[in-house]
Amino acid sequence: MIDYTNSKLLLDASNIPVGEVVWRSPSNLAILKYWGKHGIQLPNNPSLSMTLQNAYTDTVIKYSPKEDYARGIDLDFHFHAEPNEAFKAKIISYFESLLPIFPFLEQLKLDIHSGNSFPHSSGIASSASSMSALALCLCTMEDQFFGTLEEDTAFDQKASYVARLGSGSASRSIFPGMALWGQTGQVEGSSDYYAVPLGDRMHEGFKNYHDDILIVQSGEKSVSSRAGHGLMDENPYAPTRYEQTKKTLHNLLAVIDKGDFEGFGKIAEAEAMTLHALMMTSNPPYLLMDPNTLAIIKKVREYRAETKQPLYFSLDAGPNVHLLYPEEIIHDVRLFIEEELLSFCEEGMMISDWVGEGPEEIDLEVEGS
Ligand code: DP6
Repeated sequence: MIDYTNSKLLLDASNIPVGEVVWRSPSNLAILKYWGKHGIQLPNNPSLSMTLQNAYTDTVIKYSPKEDYARGIDLDFHFHAEPNEAFKAKIISYFESLLPIFPFLEQLKLDIHSGNSFPHSSGIASSASSMSALALCLCTMEDQFFGTLEEDTAFDQKASYVARLGSGSASRSIFPGMALWGQTGQVEGSSDYYAVPLGDRMHEGFKNYHDDILIVQSGEKSVSSRAGHGLMDENPYAPTRYEQTKKTLHNLLAVIDKGDFEGFGKIAEAEAMTLHALMMTSNPPYLLMDPNTLAIIKKVREYRAETKQPLYFSLDAGPNVHLLYPEEIIHDVRLFIEEELLSFCEEGMMISDWVGEGPEEIDLEVEGS
């Protein structure tokens, strides 16, 4: 087990620095889903995702000496230039939980500005992008102060570990291409504590693989992911589900190696349906799909039967539909979306995305910062 507790990471109290760090970190779409957890943010099965490019969070952390030294976290938080008390409270409790790892956080006044590239309330889960952006900022601060994370692999591993503590899926957003989180004998170096990149194991064909996100409903989900994970503890199908993920991972790795879009799409669809079946068989049971989600799924299946093109769908814990397809068929798919699918979306909303390059440290002025 890896332990990042480090009481030595304290600043010289007579020389507290002033500065800022900025990261842009993307969201990701799990093909093999993380659903069910234990202990402190540890997954009940491995998950594998594609990192996105276009759906990201920009986060700036400005730091300076605390005016009056007091214990605890001292921070201000703005989201899209507006103070946001709910997010602020969430970040304070996240940072408090990280004090054994980053004790210097208690010595600083923090001013955080954050914003998403995707529309405010598009219903796109932003915990992966927002938590990974925060984790990356904290690791950069540690490196600026102590020079302890100069080596890229060590930096990424710690960022993924810290991101996981904020939100499990965020651990995977640290890496470009595709990433796996959860210990498995099938991938060397894999861990329940942080994600690892698939790197060259991902076939070239997936480098510009698309994920167009159809926004069926933009509101808040009626049941949060956190609550959904919790309900897996008593779900009678959970043990079968966890057992099944071993075989699914084996098959998924094989199609990713080969660049087999059909095989990949079939697994993505089966996983999406399984995730929602687990919600429907929870106690109490619940349903996050909307009639328009089903209408889109039906249309996608008809399109595939007619054209024989590898267009598939995935779902997250919500009603929005991710359309998965290779670059070669973009022209036909976009026409199909426009003519047959956008009418099922809220205000015709769609986010066009694809397999991404991973987070980047940037020099930018976030709106209102
Ligand atoms: C369905 O990562 O949002 O998107 O760890 O409680 O923050 P917490 O949960 P979260 O769960 C994501 C669930 C999922 C599948 C996935 O991304 O693997």
